[in-house]
Amino acid sequence: MLARLAHKRIVLGVSGGIAAYKSADLIRRLRDAGAEVQVVMTAAAQEFITPLTLQALSGNPVHTDLLDLAAEAAMGHIELARWADLVLVAPASADCLARLAQGVANDLLTTLWLATKAKLSVAPAMNQQMWAAPAVQSALAVLRTRGVAVFGPASGSQACGDIGEGRMLEAVELADRCADQFETAALTGKHVVITAGPTREALDPVRYLSNHSSGKMGFAIAQACIEAGARVTLIAGPVNLPTPDRLARINVTSALEMLQAAQTATADADIFIATAAVADYRPRDAADQKIKKSADTLTLELVKNPDIVATIAAAERRPFVVGFAAETEKVIAHAREKLVRKKLDMIACNDVARSDIGFQSDDNALTVIWSDGEQTLEKASKSLIARQLVALIAQRIKARL
Ligand code: PMT
Repeated sequence: MLARLAHKRIVLGVSGGIAAYKSADLIRRLRDAGAEVQVVMTAAAQEFITPLTLQALSGNPVHTDLLDLAAEAAMGHIELARWADLVLVAPASADCLARLAQGVANDLLTTLWLATKAKLSVAPAMNQQMWAAPAVQSALAVLRTRGVAVFGPASGSQACGDIGEGRMLEAVELADRCADQFETAALTGKHVVITAGPTREALDPVRYLSNHSSGKMGFAIAQACIEAGARVTLIAGPVNLPTPDRLARINVTSALEMLQAAQTATADADIFIATAAVADYRPRDAADQKIKKSADTLTLELVKNPDIVATIAAAERRPFVVGFAAETEKVIAHAREKLVRKKLDMIACNDVARSDIGFQSDDNALTVIWSDGEQTLEKASKSLIARQLVALIAQRIKARL
């Protein structure tokens, strides 16, 4: 279960309460599970535990001030809000819960809470009489209706000597609840290498042979693999797409460069996914100078490029290899032939004669084929198709174990 936290980014908000000491243990458990943790402390929290302690445990500077020029220059509140996959306020005091419910933004934590798209959660901690107070319960009700996950509190003896509900959950339980917030860990611990986009094969210093691949499919798969907990290396041909967070991107231009990058990156890879539309041929000799217009016809001599996916599939230490097939006719038959000829574990074929899917489009539809089965992924956004494909890959790898 805790594996779901691998590579996840958690902002831990600490508000003022005696349970703040448990936050130290929580940070350790979250990091042990592979999460990255940034801590935000309210002024009251700093009366109970020092920022230095939480900084040492989280491995990151602790954020305390909304209006601190130096802090904003390093990682400002908006950046922090965008960075997070999950914001957990633990302990969440009665005062803090009230401010979160009302949308008051008078310190770094409450401002960040409003500015984030991350999953939101609170772990209340307070005296049992305060916990029972209608004002606290109505703040909780408001937060729940907004989709905020409420972890605990537990019942038992309290620091003030009372016995009852209001103790913050133990760190071990809170780490589990954080993990629950993430759906899948299908590829945790796996290194996935993905090729995406077209290649360009130079004719001369200003011209090249290429194709219409935008890279969208490969980038969506990279994103889906990250969400599934994988470490991702994305080898990208020339495309105009921003790099998704949390992956290593290697930019290449030609098929030969892509091959070299793929061979290096797959040395320790578990999965290789070849989405790139690699040029099958390249000009035998790229001219050193711009080719001048003279004769009415120009003959180009092309030589075959190496087949990248087949090369990786033939390697001694081979990862699980997934190819793509871009076909305009007899889509399934051609894809099956490529699955066998290139010795792939799986192939995903798309009909690129259709203008509503495939090259450039935001949508795709795939038939995914392996040695003893196949599955159709109906037309959907490339992000959704990518997530479905990743789930299928994870299933097949599990089935082979
Ligand atoms: O980039 P988008 O605009 O989002 O479009 C997505 C896509 C249509 C490019 C993608 O879904 C797709 O189909 N990619 C494979 C394109 C392709 O080159 O297909 P192919 O049938 O020619 O090649 C079969 C497989 O061999 C592919 O995995 C390809 O990466 C690989 N190959 C091909 C030639 C070569 N020299 N080396 C290879 O590794």
